[in-house]
Amino acid sequence: MKLLIKNGTLVLKEREIKADLLIEGSKILKIATKIACSDNSCNVIDASGKHVLPGIIDLHVHLREPGFEGKEDIQSGSMAAVKGGVTQVCCMPNTNPVCDNAVVVTYINHRANEVNLCKVRPIGAITRGEQGETLSDIGKMKSAGIVAISDDGKSVDNSQIMRLAMEYANDFGLKCLCHCEDKDLVDGGVVNEGYNSTLTGLKGSPRAAEDIMIARDISLSESLNIPIHICHVSTYSGVEIIRSAKARGVQVTAETCPHYFILTDDIITGYDTDTKVNPPVREERDRLAVIEGLKDGTLDCIVTDHAPHSLKDKQVEYNSAAFGISGIETSFALSYTYLVKTGELSLCELMQRMSYNPSRTLNLGGGELAEGKEADIIIADLSKKYVIDSKNFLSKGKNTPFEGFEVYGDVEYTIVDGEIKYKK
Ligand code: DOR
Ligand code: ZN
Ligand code: ZN
Repeated sequence: MKLLIKNGTLVLKEREIKADLLIEGSKILKIATKIACSDNSCNVIDASGKHVLPGIIDLHVHLREPGFEGKEDIQSGSMAAVKGGVTQVCCMPNTNPVCDNAVVVTYINHRANEVNLCKVRPIGAITRGEQGETLSDIGKMKSAGIVAISDDGKSVDNSQIMRLAMEYANDFGLKCLCHCEDKDLVDGGVVNEGYNSTLTGLKGSPRAAEDIMIARDISLSESLNIPIHICHVSTYSGVEIIRSAKARGVQVTAETCPHYFILTDDIITGYDTDTKVNPPVREERDRLAVIEGLKDGTLDCIVTDHAPHSLKDKQVEYNSAAFGISGIETSFALSYTYLVKTGELSLCELMQRMSYNPSRTLNLGGGELAEGKEADIIIADLSKKYVIDSKNFLSKGKNTPFEGFEVYGDVEYTIVDGEIKYKK
């Protein structure tokens, strides 16, 4: 059976067009002004007044399974993903057991196939148990299907181990996704170090804790001439380090998250633990620099760092609460509302950062609407306004600092490999 999407506004890589789109099997067969389906061999979706967009590819997601299924599992995380218009997720290895070997990779792939909603791409740990000491079996994990390596949640403190990891991963065509954090400088900080940390009495973590590790990993990448990817950039100074590295030809890509281009640390003054995230949300200067970085291409990708937690991890005193934001169901609407509606990016530019660039960063396929490409597609009503309500989340993690925010952009269909996986 073919699937025909009629009368929509298609968001291609460089331009929007009013056209029909025909899917056959798992691929986009044809894009044209009018496509007829005479022989009743098509399911037809009328997308009049709607936008047809490439499925979102989220390079940075915590699905929590195995081990922390109370926070999220592959089923609930995948349901949340397709509700958010995400057709492909890369899942971080800080599970229990840590995804540092081929058995766990195989388990995740097996569960994802059973769930059969979005595409799930496991990321392997750089070091055994994410302990920062011994490299994991990157080659065997590659054979089992990882798409990158990362010790996300922690930095690899030892620069020599990080260097070896970059070289070893590169031999297998894999990139390191670098969580950049100098733990000694963080020193137990839970929010950005600045006026609001002083005001609240919450311990601050300085920008330098992030920047030093960004600079170190870029320095390693530059000297080895090996591509790397910097996770969740939150500081104006980090943006600048990456910008100047790119200008001299370093093979570095970078990502940021909606909370870094929408929020500032003014929100921590209410001591709401849903605002606690690592790295922390920072100041207006940083927020504006992150937007600038997204505009000029310094920051290639928008990801969520979807970090679902259970109520008991969050309903405690600020210092003891878990770090993280449940973000996969809100990222498209927030990004559309705060970047496109505000005129910072065009819709095509937004989808490059949410879909095309992520696909390119890790060679994942999909990422654009074009004939012959994977039929990973979303249909959204961009004029529909609604209020974010975590009670409606399919994720087990209700931990959002965006509760009550008014946003535009409602995902109505999510199609993965030509199959409808979510319908509003
Ligand atoms: O806020 C965060 N949550 N930052 C991280 O680096 C890890 C993540 C998690 O796993 O909860
Ligand atoms: Zn991280
Ligand atoms: Zn993370």
